[in-house]
Amino acid sequence: MCGIVGYVGPRPALEVLIPGLRRLEYRGYDSAGIVVAAPGGLRVLKTPGKIQRLEERVRAEWMGTSAAGSQCGIAHTRWATHGPPTEVNAHPHTDHCGRLAIVHNGIIENYADLKRQLEARGHVFTSQTDTEVLAHLIGVLAEENDVLSAICAALRQVEGTLGVAVVHADHPDRIWVVRRGSPIVLGMGDSETIVASDAAAIVAHTNRVIYLDDDDVAIVTAGSIDVRTAQNVPVSRQVAQLDWDVHTAEKSGYEHFMLKEIFEQPEALRNAMRGRLDPATGSAKLGGLAMDPREIAQVRRVVLVACGTSLHAGMVGRLYFEDLADLPTSVEQAAEFRYRNPILSPHDLVVAISQSGETADTLAAVREARQKGAALAGICNVVGSTIARETGRGVYLHAGPEIGVASTKAFTCQVVVLLLIALKFARCRRLCREEGERIGEAIASTPDLVARVLERNDRIAAVAEKYAAARDVFFIGRGHLYPVALEGALKLKEISYAHAEGYHAAELKHGPIALLEPSVPVVALALDVPGRDKMIGNIQECRARHAPVIALATDGDSTIASMVEDVIWLPPCSPLVAPIPAAVALQLLAYHVARVRGCEIDQPRNLAKSVTVE
Ligand code: F6R
Repeated sequence: MCGIVGYVGPRPALEVLIPGLRRLEYRGYDSAGIVVAAPGGLRVLKTPGKIQRLEERVRAEWMGTSAAGSQCGIAHTRWATHGPPTEVNAHPHTDHCGRLAIVHNGIIENYADLKRQLEARGHVFTSQTDTEVLAHLIGVLAEENDVLSAICAALRQVEGTLGVAVVHADHPDRIWVVRRGSPIVLGMGDSETIVASDAAAIVAHTNRVIYLDDDDVAIVTAGSIDVRTAQNVPVSRQVAQLDWDVHTAEKSGYEHFMLKEIFEQPEALRNAMRGRLDPATGSAKLGGLAMDPREIAQVRRVVLVACGTSLHAGMVGRLYFEDLADLPTSVEQAAEFRYRNPILSPHDLVVAISQSGETADTLAAVREARQKGAALAGICNVVGSTIARETGRGVYLHAGPEIGVASTKAFTCQVVVLLLIALKFARCRRLCREEGERIGEAIASTPDLVARVLERNDRIAAVAEKYAAARDVFFIGRGHLYPVALEGALKLKEISYAHAEGYHAAELKHGPIALLEPSVPVVALALDVPGRDKMIGNIQECRARHAPVIALATDGDSTIASMVEDVIWLPPCSPLVAPIPAAVALQLLAYHVARVRGCEIDQPRNLAKSVTVE
């Protein structure tokens, strides 16, 4: 949520800051701002709306001025938390004398108290943000200390999550950065350093990065990175290599990131399973999980915690752990988890599922589980993310960066990774090798299966066009396809703004069926998997209420075809992996409905990519 980019080096900072903001725009896009160190002081420009508006103003107001040539600056794209997305609330925020400016990701929980204290000392605030309070606090402390000591002192007073970058008019050759709960990555270029809240803004310039740890403070110049603890003690942090190139963060000819990422799924799935399937043992090799067979045998219960799309993947995963490994498994909406009294023991394995690895609710659930003594593991896509670090072990998706706000390739890769883990557990506990091999083959078939769904894009687009005007849509499924019905509805509503509801097919008659009428289409997940026969009855119930039914059916299933208005055909597959092609078809359906409705697909209203507030 929100994006930070900073630059110090030999080039004009704007050359890096504006394209960097564009790459981070998926993290928040309601307002943006930039500050550069120029002769005579800091120059700040902020605007509500998209990066493009900021860029236009930069061109109109800064070109030909010393600001355009500045070699040091920081910039921010915002997803509003405190105060609406206006020019005054946009970052950067300056201190009381305008000599210091900061951009900030996260939330300062005690900002109201700090604000009262500063107001009592005569400070006047122009915005409604928590960030401006932090800027003033550091500014006051910097009157009597150097900037680094002022930042460390401020950190002792603030509570909450912070990813912060700071510039000061008296030091136009450096940027200070802070990480506490909100990621900061430092890119080490050729005599230049790029600061960012995620690697997408760095990858065009360098692959060498340092991920800061929590409570690290760093002073960054063109040629040096000096990392300290919050107590101002020097520490060394490893240099890591980014394993993706610049094209992975570009649209590469696709109209939207979402479409690109849908089409990347065969490759993403290959990457998620690469080197992990072991035909010799009919099991999975998952080094990062760091669990030996004895530890696996001791697990009594699996608890999957996640939000949104990742929660839906968890719901599929639960069936894998139960069916294959005979393990009691629950799926927990992460935001509720820590406000209940989850009963956990060291024999419970809590697995946090998160594409970004930064979702605040999921992170809080991880901390709760740790405090209660449960064993932990993570399934994350973003390497080095907070959840990946705090769980300490797990399985990365290796899906590549997911930029489209609607999660697509992460879902299918999460499902595959959950199946790999369940397979490993099952082989350690009860499953014979032959069965394991059979499951391995099903997993290995998924990239081709998805490729065959993608070949049907035109047909799915035609169905989408026919129903694009619908105001309300139901998605129904059973068994492994029930979570996919929920996911299909989520995809449709978040990007097309059509009202969509996912239901278990049997649940429809317990209330929602009252809403069915000819203008309310029902998308029925009626693949040839266990539950299909019952689904036939559920489709009849919808037809009897004159609702048009769009079925996802297995190639050649004339019985289903004869009962419904429209069919989206999918290739036959093992029931175990059926959620994957079904999800891809529903991603395309949602995409095309949103396209026909003229929606901003990669940046749906009110949303942001990673949700770092509770
Ligand atoms: C929906 C979507 C969200 C995320 C949710 C969790 O398309 O993207 O529902 O799935 O915010 O995010 P992660 O997986 O990053 O924890």
